[in-house]
Amino acid sequence: MRVGGRVEWFLEPTTPEELRSAVNACRERGLAPRILGGGANLIIADGILPGVVIGTGRMNRLFRIWPAVDGEGSSDQEQDPSAWSAEPSGRVAPADPALDPRLVGWAGTTLPSLVRAARDLGYGGIEGVVGIPGHLGGGVAMNAGGHWGELWDHIELVRVIDEEGEFLDLTPEQVQPGYRNGNLGTRVVAAAILHFEPAPKALIEQRMREILREKNAVQPVSERSAGCVFKNPDLEVSGGRGAGRLVDDCGLKGRSIGDAMVSPLHGNFVVNRGAARATDVLALIEEVRAEVAQQTGIELELEVKRWLD
Ligand code: EPU
Repeated sequence: MRVGGRVEWFLEPTTPEELRSAVNACRERGLAPRILGGGANLIIADGILPGVVIGTGRMNRLFRIWPAVDGEGSSDQEQDPSAWSAEPSGRVAPADPALDPRLVGWAGTTLPSLVRAARDLGYGGIEGVVGIPGHLGGGVAMNAGGHWGELWDHIELVRVIDEEGEFLDLTPEQVQPGYRNGNLGTRVVAAAILHFEPAPKALIEQRMREILREKNAVQPVSERSAGCVFKNPDLEVSGGRGAGRLVDDCGLKGRSIGDAMVSPLHGNFVVNRGAARATDVLALIEEVRAEVAQQTGIELELEVKRWLD
C-alpha cells in the first residue's frame, strides 16, 4: 500500500533457527513481536510503531527435498529435521524432480518465486495462486488464495514456532485451515513442505497466463493496494454477492479520502493514488464498512491486517 510509518525495532533473521531465536528473545523480554512477511495485505499506521517487528525478507529460500541417506534418519519428514535445512551434509538431491514433486520453502520465500520455480520444475497445481504477492509465511498464516486455489491446498507440513518457543510440525488435518485463515493462532510460520502434481511446463505456463489475464481485467493489480480489503461475507446472507460487488452496489467505487480511493475497477480494493497516508486509507475503509452496513445490513469483516499501535 506504501503508507505508514516506521518501527521501533526491526529484526531480520536469515534461517528458521534465527527466526526462533528472535521470537524467543522478544518473548523473554515480555514483548509480543509482530511478524512481517511481504507486507502485501497489511496497513501500518503513520508515525512510529512501538515494539519489535521481525521481517522474513532474508529468509527467501526454496529448495528440493533431500532424501535420507541409508541408515540415517527416516524418510518421514516429521522425524527428519534435516529435511528442513537447505544444505544437509552428505546428501544429494534426487536427479529427477518428478520422482519427488515437493519443495521446502522458508517463511520468506516470495509467492511469485515459488510459483515460477514450480513451473520450471514441471510441478503443477500451485499456479492457481499466480499473481498473489507476499511471502510463503504470510500466505500460510492467512491461507492466501482465490477462485483458482488456496495455499493450504499444496501444504504437506508446516513447521511453526509454538507458544513454548519450540519448533512444531503440523499437517493440514491437524491445523484445519479455513477461508483466508491459516488457523495457526499465535504460532509463527518458519517453513513449509509443499506438494505438487507433475505436469507439462507448457500447460502450467498457459494456465498462469489465463489466470493473470482474468485477474488483470478485474483487479487494479498494477496499482498500490493491500489486496482485498474485506473477506467475502457468507454468500447465503448476501444473496451471492462478494464484498467487492456489495461495495459496488452501494455506489462506493471512486469514493476517496485524500489520495486513498476505492478502486473504480474493483470495489474491494483501496488504492493509493500517490500521497495517501495510512490515516486516509483506514478512515476510508471504515467509511465503506459503515455505508455497506447501513445500506445492506451486512457487517463486512476485514481481510487486511492493521498494525495501529
Ligand atoms: N464484482 C462486481 N463489482 C466489483 C467487484 C466484483 O460486480 O466491484 C463482481 C464480479 O463481476 C464477479 C463477482 O463480483 O461476478 C466476484 O468478483 P471477483 O471475481 O473479482 O472475485 P472476488 O470474490 O471479489 C476473490 C478474492 C480475491 C481473489 C479473487 C480471484 C476475497 C475477498 N477475494 O475476489 O482475493 O484474487 O477472488 O481469485 O476472497 C485478496 O485476498 O486480497 C484477493 C484479492
